[in-house]
Amino acid sequence: MKGFHIVVLLSSAVLLVSAAPALELVTCSKESGAAAARLTMHRINENHGHGYKFRLQEIQGNKVETVDGGCNLELQLNLLETVCHVINPKHFEDCEIREEAERAVMANCTIKMNVRNTDANVTKYECDTRQVKTNLEMVTICPDCPTLDPLNSTEGLKSVNEAVSKFNQNTTNQHYYILKEVGRITVGYIPSVGMAYYAEFALVETHCPMGSRINPEACKPLCPDRAHHAFCKSTYFRSTGLQSVECEFYPPSVSPHPNHMRSHNLLHAETDVVIFPKLQFF
Ligand SMILES: *[C@@H]1O[C@H](CO)[C@@H](O)[C@H](O)[C@H]1NC(C)=O
Ligand SMILES: *[C@@H]1O[C@H](CO)[C@@H](O)[C@H](O)[C@H]1NC(C)=O
Ligand SMILES: *[C@@H]1O[C@H](CO)[C@@H](O)[C@H](O)[C@H]1NC(C)=O
Ligand SMILES: *[C@@H]1O[C@H](CO)[C@@H](O)[C@H](O)[C@H]1NC(C)=O
Repeated sequence: MKGFHIVVLLSSAVLLVSAAPALELVTCSKESGAAAARLTMHRINENHGHGYKFRLQEIQGNKVETVDGGCNLELQLNLLETVCHVINPKHFEDCEIREEAERAVMANCTIKMNVRNTDANVTKYECDTRQVKTNLEMVTICPDCPTLDPLNSTEGLKSVNEAVSKFNQNTTNQHYYILKEVGRITVGYIPSVGMAYYAEFALVETHCPMGSRINPEACKPLCPDRAHHAFCKSTYFRSTGLQSVECEFYPPSVSPHPNHMRSHNLLHAETDVVIFPKLQFF
C-alpha cells in the first residue's frame, strides 16, 4: 500500500448551492425556443436520479402547434453530460462539460411541452445517449486515452468495492457509507503497470456508526434529509491493486427529489451493454 492516499476534498460546491435562477416565460412564439429549452433542462435535471447532470448544447428543432388556448411545442435538443453527478448540489448550469478525451457523453432528445397562457409544462421527453466520439474516432484522436468499461465489468467493480472499503477504513466520518451507484469506469493500459481502472462512484451515509463491527454492506442509508453523500474517484492497477481514492462530500439534500413530472422517458444506450448510466425518468 506504499503511496496510498485518501484525499478528502471538502467541496466548494457545497458553498455554491445556488437558488435556481428565474426562468424566462415560455410563450407560443417561435422565438420562445431558448426559454422552452432552458425550462426543459431544469425539468430533466430535476427528474434525473442517476448518473450525471446534463447541459444544453444546441436546439436542433422547435415545432409549434397551435391549439385551443395555447400551443403544443416539440423540441429537438442536443445535451452534453457534465462532470457533476446528480448527488452534487451544484446547479447544472455551473457544471463543467466532460472533456472529449474523457469519453464525453451526449444525448439527443425529443421533448413535448404544453403552453397555456403563462403556464408551460414538459409532458414527455425521450433521449438517446451515446459517446460524442465513437471508439473508432477516439483511436485517431487519442490512442492512449482510457476507454469506457461496462458498469458491470468484473474487474471494474472489484476496484470500486476495494475503494469503498478503503473509504470506510480511513475517514473520520461518523458513519459508514455504502455504494449508491457506479457513475463510470474507464480502463487503460500503462506500459510499466498494465491494466489500470479509473472509477467514479457515489456513496451514501448509513446509520451504522464508524468503527462498529457490523459489515457496512448490511447498513441502510440514512433518509435523504440526514444522509451526507460522497462522490469518489479511484485508481486501481490490476497488478498492484488500489492506488488512490479521492472523495468530495455533499451535505444532506434540503428537498427530496421532486417527482412531480408524470413524463415518460426512454433512454437508449448505443449498445446493449451499459457503459454509462442511462438517463432514467420514470
Ligand atoms: C401544468 O401542470 C399543472 C399541474 O399538473 C396543471 O395544473 C396545469 O394545468 C398544467 N399546465 C399546462 C399548460 O398543461
Ligand atoms: C436522436 O438522433 C437520431 C439521429 O438523428 C434520431 O434517429 C433519433 O430519433 C433521435 N432520438 C431522439 C430521442 O430524439
Ligand atoms: C454485463 O451486462 C451485460 C448486459 O446486461 C451482460 O451481457 C454481461 O454478461 C454482464 N457482464 C458481467 C461481467 O456481469
Ligand atoms: C489510513 O490512512 C493512514 C494515513 O492517512 C495510513 O497510515 C493507514 O495505513 C491507512 N490505513 C489503511 C488500513 O490503509
